Amino acid sequence: MARTVTVAVLFSGRGSNLENLIRRFHDKEFGDKRVVIAPISNRPDAPGIELAKSYGIDTALIDHKRFPSRGSFDEALVSNIEEISPELVVMAGFMRIVTEIFTSRVDAINLHPSLLPLFKGANAIEESFGSGMRVGGVTVHRVDSTLDGGEILDQRCVRIEEEDTLESFREKIHKTEHELLPQVVAKLLRLTE
Ligand code: GAR
Repeated sequence: MARTVTVAVLFSGRGSNLENLIRRFHDKEFGDKRVVIAPISNRPDAPGIELAKSYGIDTALIDHKRFPSRGSFDEALVSNIEEISPELVVMAGFMRIVTEIFTSRVDAINLHPSLLPLFKGANAIEESFGSGMRVGGVTVHRVDSTLDGGEILDQRCVRIEEEDTLESFREKIHKTEHELLPQVVAKLLRLTE
């Protein structure tokens, strides 16, 4: 019988990368492994929660506003993750800076919409597009206690053409994210068809 491999996916908003991971991996068997996606959100109004529900998947909600400090939120988040005991923790649009409480106990990877180390932070797509560079891109990196720092695992370039608008560039970034993140996840979990 296939062994269940749980992937915790942390998100704060739309959840298109969460949906992509669900479609690609959830409840599917890869050799002797069966993957289960376990979504976790810090925002009760995140559209990704309903999206996950449409696939029959409940999201664990840990509302950061209910905690008096960053540290106490991280404690609750880590406890939740440890209960699930996932093989891999993926931050996909998780708009929180985590403390050492998190990084000392959880090995996670993060998706970021720029060619790190350029354009760290919450406005990477806008800053990348406005930089004058002719390429932007997407990065998946390990999470450490620095903002969008940590070992880079993989990256893809996205060209910025003359005719691109911020919106068309954003679309290209998301399309590239939807290709790159599952590739990194499959590699880290050693999933074979
Ligand atoms: C993605 O573009 C992801 O790279 C970005 O948030 C978006 C979430 O989209 N993350 C960051 O900017 C982290 N600094 P989604 O909710 O549709 O997956």
